[in-house]
Order: sequence, then structure tokens, then C-alpha cells
Amino acid sequence: MQMALRIVALLTLLLGAVLALQLLGVVLVSGLVNMFHLLLGIATVILAFAALSSALRDGAWRGIGAWFAVVPLVMGLLYYTNVIRLPVWIWLHVLMGLLAIGFIEMAFARRRRLGRAPSEQL
Ligand code: HEM
Repeated sequence: MQMALRIVALLTLLLGAVLALQLLGVVLVSGLVNMFHLLLGIATVILAFAALSSALRDGAWRGIGAWFAVVPLVMGLLYYTNVIRLPVWIWLHVLMGLLAIGFIEMAFARRRRLGRAPSEQL
């Protein structure tokens, strides 16, 4: 589960970086990249909850890796559905997306430090 989350989050980041380069006019990519970024983003949110929800027992801050990816997802969906189309919104989304992936990695690092038993890592 942990490895799946890592891979999916990394792919979301990679495709997000390509989309950001497109917004900057550096590259032009197919609309499929948007679709895959959206689907991988949803998968990241689901896997983060599944893999890290046990950290929520220690509070919302300690468990931030489990829930924070919802923030860029909601921001991305508001952009995708044309509710908010401001350029600043999508750059804030990029920032929140990077933070979300950082929080997921922090949660893994903390788990390693605490050396929890594999059964507690579900
Ligand atoms: C867990 C983290 C993330 C989630 C859940 C997420 C989700 C989404 C969603 C649902 C959209 C709207 C659909 C689309 O246009 O593809 C979107 C758009 C976008 N995302 Fe993310 N994203 C995440 C992280 C990132 C990161 C790290 C970056 C940049 C490095 C990024 C860059 C972008 C860009 C540039 C767009 C706008 C694409 C366009 O021009 O239409 N995202 N994201």
C-alpha cells in the first residue's frame, strides 16, 4: 500500500509538472495528461487515507499526510469544472499539491522513525 501510494503520488507530481510547463508555454501536451493527472490525484487521495489514516489517531496535525491531499484535489476540481479559472488559483494548487506530497513523505519518515510493526502500518 505504502509503495503504491508513493508511486501514484510521484506520477501525479510528474504529470502536474508537465501541466505546469504547459501553462508556462514551454510544452504542449495532449488533454490525456490532464485526465491522467486528475485520476492519479483522486487515487493519491484514496491511497493516502487508506495507508496513513492510523496516524490520525495522534491528531489532525500528526495525521496531515492522510488528509491534506484533499486540498489540492478540491482546488483542482474547482478549476477543472470552470468554477474558479484564476491563474493564481492553479499556482496555489501547485503549491498545495507539493505540500501534500511532502506531508505524505513526512508521514512515512515518521513511521520509520517510530518503527511501528507492519500490522500497525495498514
Ligand atoms: C495530491 C496532489 C494533487 C492532486 C490531488 C491534484 C489534482 C488536480 C486536479 C483534479 C486537477 C484538475 C484536472 C486537470 O486539469 O488535470 C489539477 C490540475 C492541475 N494540476 Fe494538480 N493535483 C495535485 C498535485 C499537483 C502538483 C504537485 C502539480 C505541479 C507540480 C500540479 C499541477 C497542476 C496543474 C498545472 C493543473 C492545471 C492543468 C490545466 O492547465 O488544466 N498538481 N490537479
